[in-house]
Amino acid sequence: MPEGQPAPSNGSLPKQALSELKHRPLGIYIHVPFCTTRCGYCDFNTYTAAKLGPEPGASRAGYVEAAIQELDLAARVLGPQLPPISTIFVGGGTPTVLPPDDLGRLIAAVGDRFGLEEDAEVTTESNPESIDATGLKRLRQLGFNRISFGMQSVVPHVLATLDRMHSPGRPQQAIAEAKAAGFANTSLDLIYGTPGESTDDWRASLDAAVAASPEHISAYALIVEEGTRLAARIRRGELRAPDDDDLADKYLIADERLAAVGYTAYEVSNWSTSTATRCRHNLGYWRSDHWWGIGPGAHSHVGGVRWWNVKHPRAYASRLAEGLSPAYAREVLSAAQRRIERIMLELRIADGLTTSLLTSSEQDRLADLHNRGLVAPEDGRLILTRSGRLLTDGVIRDLLD
Ligand SMILES: C[S@@+](CC[C@H](N)C(=O)[O-])C[C@H]1O[C@@H](n2cnc3c(N)ncnc32)[C@H](O)[C@@H]1O
Ligand code: SF4
Repeated sequence: MPEGQPAPSNGSLPKQALSELKHRPLGIYIHVPFCTTRCGYCDFNTYTAAKLGPEPGASRAGYVEAAIQELDLAARVLGPQLPPISTIFVGGGTPTVLPPDDLGRLIAAVGDRFGLEEDAEVTTESNPESIDATGLKRLRQLGFNRISFGMQSVVPHVLATLDRMHSPGRPQQAIAEAKAAGFANTSLDLIYGTPGESTDDWRASLDAAVAASPEHISAYALIVEEGTRLAARIRRGELRAPDDDDLADKYLIADERLAAVGYTAYEVSNWSTSTATRCRHNLGYWRSDHWWGIGPGAHSHVGGVRWWNVKHPRAYASRLAEGLSPAYAREVLSAAQRRIERIMLELRIADGLTTSLLTSSEQDRLADLHNRGLVAPEDGRLILTRSGRLLTDGVIRDLLD
């Protein structure tokens, strides 16, 4: 976790940051730090029941109470002059290891304290094995209108390498059940570049995801995270590390396949069937909007102040029980840092970046990036081409002063 500066124990924010609240959408992220098993590639802040044990304050049963205490703190800190909440995103971990009614209490608690926009987007992530048709109906009744399932792959040997157990076809069936329950906005996550995955394997996963007709698909290049079982197996030589050329080929295969059936990339790793089915909550991150992250290890941003909570569920619950903010540390970004962040994030989205954000020397570099086919300037905005999306980090490096 980054070190940052100490965060005030009452969670307070500088007046200047608060004064920006009325100008941009406000989202709430709620982190649910529990999973049934830990997938071998994943280093998210999540804990199995065996890892947590019966420790007071750290249990699944007590989690919703602690999260609601943090919502109370957020309401006190942000004050009454707030725009209603535009988006809620319950992520994890696996939120749906909690009973649907617990997740519903969290949504109701947000609505009671802040009010929701009439067409607020309310998402939960889910592992397809952790929910059934009845649970999905209940989530819909409780106010969720978007659901995103982790699918990763459809190929048994790829799923086995990822330590990922799905009964065959379960993710696709979960999409059908979600649609039947009234979710008009569904999504699947895929991972490409797993050791041993052939190009045909990747095509098979894309075909299966497309056949389920979700409104949204995320496809992520496998990242080998330090400290995971996957990283240890690669270090021991049991598995080969993902290869950059293979990842690039698979990205292009995904973009071509998805484009052919009507999905447009609205961010480097995210495709949707229309503007209306883009993930508004995640767009808020890329547009430097405001969000309060509830839960252990959650990150927040308001008006150039970023802060992040203590990671362990026990530490999180005990800070709140003592009436203290669970923030571990924070950073107050300078105007120069905010400009660079905006460039790095806005360049990732299909709407692109306003070129007026660039200095004159940065603007001078655009012609070269354009000649190399990496960016397409359009009406005062700078948009990455398909090849540019493959090399996003390099484009940003070449562009910035
Ligand atoms: C919180 S999980 C989604 C919900 C649920 N926990 C599940 O896995 O089904 C978010 C997504 O992050 C992606 N992810 C996690 N670790 C990754 C890694 N090391 N490399 C690439 N993608 C990763 C996976 O696609 C996963 O579905
Ligand atoms: S990928 Fe999802 S289910 Fe697997 S450990 Fe990570 S958060 Fe849990």
